[in-house]
Parts: sequence; C-alpha cells; structure tokens
Amino acid sequence: MGILVTGGAGYIGSHTIVELLNSGYEVIVVDNFSNSSPESLRRVSEITGQRIMVYNMSILERDGLEKVFNENNIHAVIHFAGLKAVGESVAIPLQYYQNNITGTLNLLETMQKYNVKRLVFSSSATVYGFPESVPISEDFPLSVTNPYGRTKLMIEEILGDLFIADNEWSISILRYFNPIGAHSSGRIGEDPKGIPNNLVPFITRVAVGELKELTIFGGDYPTKDGTGVRDYIHVVDLALGHLKALEKTVSTPGVNTYNLGTGKGYSVLEMVEAFENTCGIKIPYTIAQRRPGDVAVCYADPIKAKQELGWGADKGIEEMCRDSWEWQAKNPNGYEVNIKNIESPHLSTSGDFLIKVNSI
Ligand code: NAD
Ligand code: UFG
Repeated sequence: MGILVTGGAGYIGSHTIVELLNSGYEVIVVDNFSNSSPESLRRVSEITGQRIMVYNMSILERDGLEKVFNENNIHAVIHFAGLKAVGESVAIPLQYYQNNITGTLNLLETMQKYNVKRLVFSSSATVYGFPESVPISEDFPLSVTNPYGRTKLMIEEILGDLFIADNEWSISILRYFNPIGAHSSGRIGEDPKGIPNNLVPFITRVAVGELKELTIFGGDYPTKDGTGVRDYIHVVDLALGHLKALEKTVSTPGVNTYNLGTGKGYSVLEMVEAFENTCGIKIPYTIAQRRPGDVAVCYADPIKAKQELGWGADKGIEEMCRDSWEWQAKNPNGYEVNIKNIESPHLSTSGDFLIKVNSI
C-alpha cells in the first residue's frame, strides 16, 4: 500500500517512515528540506534496508503534487509538512499561513482530484490554548495564542468542513504533546537548526558542550517545583500512533481527533534530573523569567486513542532521555557532517542509493 508522507525528512516523519517500511508499506516522500536534510531519509533507508521514493519539492507546487499523484499509486497521506516554530510564526505570520494553510489546501485539492481521501494530519496540543484543567481530553475548548497554533486550528476546521461536504473522506487528526527521544539506533533524531527552542534538544546541546547552560523559563508556576509541566512522549511511540491512525482511516470514514500523549506530566527540573541520572552528565542551569505564551501544566488524557486505536505509549522517561542523548552524542553536528556524502538533492539518484530523490 503506497503512503505519501509530506514532510517525511523531518523529525517525526523520519521516525514514522521507519515504522511504515518495517510494516510493509511503500513510502513516497514530498519534502522541500526547508527544515531537514535528505541524509535523514538515507539513514531511514539504511536502518530498514528499504527503498524510499523522494520528491524534493514544496507542497506549494501544485504541478509537482499532480506529478507525484500521477507517478505513484497512493492510498493514503500522512501530512507532516509545515513550519512549526512558535516564535518565528509571530515574526513572519504570512509565511506560516502561506506554507501551512495554502500548502495543505493544495494537498487536499490534489488528493480530491485523484480520489485519495484518507489522511492523517499532524496537529498539536497547542490548540488547547490555556487549558482550564488537566488531563486534557479531545473535547476541551480550543483556542490559540500565535499564528503557528492558528494554522493548526484552521486546518482542523477545514478538515471538518471537507468531511461535511463529502463524507467519503476519512481523516485522523492527531494532537501531539511533546515528542522527544530518537530511534534506538542513534542514527536518526531531532536536528533543530541553530539554538533549539525546545527543552530536550537544548539539554542535549548543553550535555555535548555546545551550549553553556540551560535557562529554565519560570520557577514560580503553580506546580510541584515551580517549573512548567509537560507530557513528553517518545517519538517512536508517536510514530506507532500514526500507524494505528492510518489503519483506522483506511478502514472507517469520518473525522476523528486523538491526543497522542502519555498522560503523565514531568516538570522541567524533573526532566533535568532524569537526564542527569540516565546519561550521567550534569546539566548546569539558571532559573529565569517565564517564557511568554507558556502554559503552567499540559498533559493528555490518552484514553480515546487507547480505546479507539488500540494505541498507548510504552516508553518511559529514562528511555526518552537515553535515546535523545544517544542521538546527540553520536551526531554532535546533527546530520550536517554527512550531508556531503550524498549526491545533490536536486539530482535523481539510483543504483547505490536506496533513496531516489527526484527534482520537480
Ligand atoms: P520538522 O520541521 O522536523 O519536519 C517538518 C518537515 O516538513 C521538514 O522536513 C520540512 O523540511 C518539511 N516542510 C516544511 N514545509 C514544507 C513544504 N512547504 N513543502 C514540503 N515540505 C515542507 O517538524 P516535526 O517536529 O517533524 O513536526 C512534524 C509535524 O508535526 C509538523 O506539522 C509540526 O507542526 C507538527 N507538530 C510537531 C510537534 C513537535 O514538538 N515536534 C508538536 C506538535 C505538532
Ligand atoms: N523550557 C525551558 N527552557 C528552554 C526550553 C523550554 O525551561 O530552553 C521549558 C518551557 O518553558 C516548558 C518546557 O520546558 O515549560 C517545555 O518547553 P518546549 O519548548 O520543549 O515545549 P512546549 O510545550 O513549549 O511546546 C511544544 C512544541 C510546540 C507545541 C506545544 C504543544 O514546541 O510546537 O509543545 O503542546 F505547540
């Protein structure tokens, strides 16, 4: 069964493709590498021993999308492609709306034209805004505080309208909590450009000696130790959630929304301690002002995904820290060092390469 994965070279996409290939799916990727490297896909191919068809193009390119649907037998789409930095979205909102919203509209229109009506979409717990209580279930009120979050909420609404208009569509909206960790091989992982915005990539960069110390944003939240609490989920558990959602979309029409989280909350200080204990490296930190827009506590009620998808997260916090560290320690410069080892992403390659990168 052919699955189109948009944004497949990124952090969550690459881990999901490993699981798709291991489960016998055929994978076609569309990625413009705006926030990733084709090296991630080369390594996915190496881990799985399977070939991946890759198109180096943006979902903003309508003709390119048509070509992809024409050239491949696509049964369903997992749609990861999007810009995701909250702060950046405040600075350049039009680019976020253009990329995330217009890109998604292009994709949906092309899917409709080729009668491919099965979709798994990456949403985010950010659509819950400032939740009134925890754990957060899917029927909580939705609100957003920044353009990035607004793109996710708008797309969720667009998908709802699409199903009302044509109930042959089958859509899973997945609201991720805080993905961390990496594949156990240490070959693929999260590779943020520049100084990381997120907690765990920041911690691992401190651990590897690239950054001096962690700044903890806020020590006066109404939480167990004053620092913010989040629901960290291992990226491989998250990836497996996509396979379960895919099975559901293939078998049943409708629009269904699921939280993908563990249901457990850890504070920033607990995360620092867990990392230190698991990896044996001291993480120096200072406590500073709260980061604007941050909620005090955010964790999922994961019961709906358990009941309807038969999915739950298995991996604990130690495994998450260990795998994040393993990836960072083995790849102190992320994918960068190896990028020259592969041919230009603008050239079609075959033979020695398990990934075939096509330029549109
Ligand atoms: P990522 O940046 O690593 O991956 C996104 C991929 O999409 C990248 O490879 C990027 O090059 C590609 N891309 C962006 N715009 C594109 C376009 N116009 N055409 C083709 N490719 C494009 O991010 P990720 O962490 O893997 O996140 C995947 C999805 O999950 C995103 O939609 C993100 O908003 C959502 N999400 C992520 C998190 C998180 O904490 N990582 C949390 C909630 C939701
Ligand atoms: N934090 C620090 N120092 C840092 C980075 C983060 O103290 O250098 C703290 C934050 O204040 C927060 C916790 O660590 O309390 C987690 O922060 P992250 O930035 O890792 O994650 P967020 O929960 O803020 O945001 C993530 C994604 C968003 C998504 C949101 C949805 O980055 O895209 O989850 O829940 F919208």
